[in-house]
Amino acid sequence: MSIKAPKGTKDILPSEIKNWQLIELKAKEIFDKANFKEIRTPIFEDTNLFKRGVGDTTDIVNKEMYTFEKSDRSLTLRPENTAGVVRAYLEHNFYRESPPLKFWYFGPMFRYERPQAGRQRQFHQIGVEMFGIQDATADAECIMLAVEFLKSLGLNDLVVEINSLGCNTCRKEYKEELKKAIAPFLDGLCEDCKSRFEKNPLRILDCKNETCNKLFEENNLKAKVSGIKLCPECAQHYANLKTYLDALNIKYTENTFLVRGLDYYTKTVFEIKSNNLGSQNAVCGGGRYDGLVETLGGPKTPAVGFAMGVERLNSLIPQVEDTKIDYFVVSDNQTEAIKLTSKLRELGFKAEFDYNSRKFAKQLEKASKVANYAIIIGEDEINNNYLTLKDLNTSEQKKVSLEELIK
Ligand code: HAM
Repeated sequence: MSIKAPKGTKDILPSEIKNWQLIELKAKEIFDKANFKEIRTPIFEDTNLFKRGVGDTTDIVNKEMYTFEKSDRSLTLRPENTAGVVRAYLEHNFYRESPPLKFWYFGPMFRYERPQAGRQRQFHQIGVEMFGIQDATADAECIMLAVEFLKSLGLNDLVVEINSLGCNTCRKEYKEELKKAIAPFLDGLCEDCKSRFEKNPLRILDCKNETCNKLFEENNLKAKVSGIKLCPECAQHYANLKTYLDALNIKYTENTFLVRGLDYYTKTVFEIKSNNLGSQNAVCGGGRYDGLVETLGGPKTPAVGFAMGVERLNSLIPQVEDTKIDYFVVSDNQTEAIKLTSKLRELGFKAEFDYNSRKFAKQLEKASKVANYAIIIGEDEINNNYLTLKDLNTSEQKKVSLEELIK
């Protein structure tokens, strides 16, 4: 039996690659304009980075990591890239530079999840991470960049959801309120939620288990809890963010139940969703993580960022058609064909020739599929030192000299 790509992974075929290149190009353009610098970190990292960074109450760390041992070291294929960028930020002493430090990245991530539409085990993210700014201007900058990037791909009708998770002080009271509301039906919840109940009850709101969701609905959980009561500082931060977004004319909805699936968030969290994606409807997720740099051994550093799922993004934009090359050299003289092709490429044209020197009719058939023009070099052309240029769209053909062609 032939070997297939592993479950949850996909080949990105030449017919799709134009879209991927367009997405990467737009990301580069938009992030460059905002002076974000590209960073490329390793695809695998020390397992402890994710345990400490992403958090041990998350599904990502508990169930979804691709972890392996090499020379007594535990390594993990990165399930996300915020922790890796923070590691690099510390390792290369970026925190000694004057803030802000602004990075963007594009690359594969790995999560052992149940594959379904919009959810893969190897997927790609484009993201940004911004260090050193406490003001909500940084949060607004991230949301603005995400929206601008999506707009550059023609995606104007996505929904931006925001919330503030506050700081530890704000969350303490809310956690108690949540626990009180959940306690009566705790026994019916999944094992993960039972363990989240003590460790991090907020994460229960993000549970994807159908039984849990049914119990939340039956017990009217969302109506019973008020949402986080923010302390004055966090409330002001959140209010400032909304002022900036209003000033930018960025439409958003506030979702007090948006908690996100990773442990490191503080204050702002946001997601950008599409109604055209089915159940996996988040194209982008992000937020502030003011404690993570310190958790990973660095100085106290405010930070904020986001990541987008490229496969989900790609499924929302129209297929970019592959363009034809400029010239196909048709000849029964391989040496002349290869020489002219090389010359044309040197001049900046896209050019190909027939490697097998098949019959002219076959070569022309191929040429009309892939190129705008055919350049024919037959016996007469060689003997009389000219080329025949054939427009493959109109079938018009004329004699030209090499000099004329180059001009
Ligand atoms: P996340 O919400 O886990 O956040 O992932 C961000 C985006 O990656 C999601 O909104 C989704 O589009 C895409 N994504 C996640 N998992 C999959 C999957 N299995 N298959 C396909 N696409 C997927 C983070 O990863 C954070 N590091 C974002 C961040 C950066 N927060 C602050 N800075």
